[in-house]
Amino acid sequence: MCITFWEGVTGEKEKCVILPLPENVKEYLLDDGTLVVSGREDPPSHAQEGSDDAEEIQAPEFPEFTAKVQEAISSLGGSVFPKLNWSAPRDAYWIAMNSSLKCKALSDIFLLFKSSDFITRDLTQPFIHCTDDSPDPSLDYELVLRKWCELIPGAEFRCFVKENKLIGISQRDYTQYYDHISKQHEEICRSIQEFFKKHIQYKFLDEDFVFDVYRDSRGRTWLIDFNPFGEVTDSLLFTWEELTSGKNLKGDHDEGETTEQDCPVFRCTNSKVTVQPSPYLSYRLPKDFVDLSTGEDVHKLIDFLKLVRSNENNF
Ligand SMILES: Nc1ncnc2c1ncn2[C@@H]1O[C@H](COP(=O)(O)OP(=O)(O)OP(=O)(O)O)[C@@H](O)[C@H]1O
Ligand SMILES: [Mg+2]
Repeated sequence: MCITFWEGVTGEKEKCVILPLPENVKEYLLDDGTLVVSGREDPPSHAQEGSDDAEEIQAPEFPEFTAKVQEAISSLGGSVFPKLNWSAPRDAYWIAMNSSLKCKALSDIFLLFKSSDFITRDLTQPFIHCTDDSPDPSLDYELVLRKWCELIPGAEFRCFVKENKLIGISQRDYTQYYDHISKQHEEICRSIQEFFKKHIQYKFLDEDFVFDVYRDSRGRTWLIDFNPFGEVTDSLLFTWEELTSGKNLKGDHDEGETTEQDCPVFRCTNSKVTVQPSPYLSYRLPKDFVDLSTGEDVHKLIDFLKLVRSNENNF
């Protein structure tokens, strides 16, 4: 979700710049063609197959937008974390030269955005999980640039709010075991609960939502992002069934819950044995391979089998 309430870890004033995304930039991001930025202002046109100028494909250039983005990056200290209206290209970090989402120029942002399924989903199917009756609302896309901060994954937590009550807190990087989280979970839980009551409760537009926070080395809590309360948001160490029904979220003292009525359930990875691979590993493979191997997309599987059969028939 696009943030407008990022307090920033550094405490400086300028933490985030939001720029409207021009239509031709949106088209370029969705285009499968060239990536290098050089040449014209319009979206890329493909050279005719087999024609002489096949090698002269020029990637588009967006001088005005590039200048605005570069100015924003400079005003944010030279490095930014990029997002669209909802998502960051977290699944594409591995393709960047620095294996990170840290961007210093528009070309870094384009590389990540064009490689990311999360960004493509924002651009093509933003309301796929919505149930209200506005099927095709007009939407203005925005490029969100946040000042880059070196965040420690073990200090991030995801908080689930239902009917304006904080019901659950999960370690955000659940794939790793962090000794300090296990040891300090009561204090972490209490300080996040205080932060919620002071800054967030009854101030958000919806009564069900998810927010992410960061606890710095001095124990201060910072807001990172808001997310929808539902399947589109990763429930981490909870399940959506538990969060929506409230089942397992009451009277479970083993999870750091006390008998206090408004105390959220806190979940963290409790031992090194339960450490898991990164959830983004599958994005390193072309999506078609992943869909075929997991059987996720039946149509792709059928196409693939037809292809194999026609190849066999040709021999
Ligand atoms: N300003 C920043 N500088 C560096 N890293 C950041 C910054 N903001 C966020 N991150 C990192 O990127 C991760 C994802 O950020 P964010 O939650 O805003 O993206 P998202 O696409 O909404 O993710 P999700 O769908 O999981 O909510 C955060 O967990 C944090 O580790
Ligand atoms: Mg988010």
